[in-house]
Amino acid sequence: MSSVLKISNLSKIYGTEENKVKALDNVSFSIQKGEFVLIVGSSGSGKSTLLNMIGLLDRPTNGQVFIDTIDTTNLTDSKISTFRNKKLGFIFQFSNLLSDLTVLENVLLPVEISGNIEFAEKNARELLIAVGLEDQINKRTNKISGGQAQRVAVARGLINKPSIVLADEPTGNLDSITSLKIVDLMKSMAKKLNQTFIVVTHDSKIFGDVDRVITIKDGKAFEASVPSSMGLLI
Ligand SMILES: Nc1ncnc2c1ncn2[C@@H]1O[C@H](COP(=O)(O)OP(=O)(O)OP(=O)(O)O)[C@@H](O)[C@H]1O
Ligand SMILES: [Mg+2]
Repeated sequence: MSSVLKISNLSKIYGTEENKVKALDNVSFSIQKGEFVLIVGSSGSGKSTLLNMIGLLDRPTNGQVFIDTIDTTNLTDSKISTFRNKKLGFIFQFSNLLSDLTVLENVLLPVEISGNIEFAEKNARELLIAVGLEDQINKRTNKISGGQAQRVAVARGLINKPSIVLADEPTGNLDSITSLKIVDLMKSMAKKLNQTFIVVTHDSKIFGDVDRVITIKDGKAFEASVPSSMGLLI
């Protein structure tokens, strides 16, 4: 089976000569279709940096990111944004919805203008029903709760049927009960759609059982293959 994601010897150094921060240090791993993966680690360990590299939002200093076996290293900036829009879905800590638009319009934002809008709208309505927002479809997003906004963000992250959904602290701005509901929603959508999720979180406990947990420490990635041993991912 081919990997939806393969990262190879990924490093990221921020800053200039005198002020260098090695945020990622030679990280390599692969992720298979349908896996639900958590990225954990203390503040400043490099989790968001890693997610930004996988999300093609920033380029690594060294190493490669393959998505659906395509090497993204040499894609031009304009090719990268088209590729990103097609292959990746994003869910952020703050839902990043446009408050002047309705729930439905927000879900449709990542859809290419050139695409089939009728088909996309049908798909968006189905996703909104699946995330439990059938009665909110035409509301403006400044009139919904934080938990509902994050449900909209989940639907928006899925609208283009991405290869991978990336989420950075998707429950970071929610109370614990609402967080659990969003976790359940992401896990159930992952199962239903055989959708790969890579989720950065401070709170791995609320996620319960997941397929994999990758720990970042000082820019290096570790994964426990058996519960008692932590193996360095190379
Ligand atoms: N744009 C940047 N310029 C310079 N240094 C940066 C930049 N972004 C992150 N860093 C540094 O890189 C390291 C890793 O940061 P990163 O944001 O990836 O950590 P994190 O694990 O996501 O932390 P948190 O849990 O607090 O969100 C930190 O030392 C941080 O200060
Ligand atoms: Mg972060």
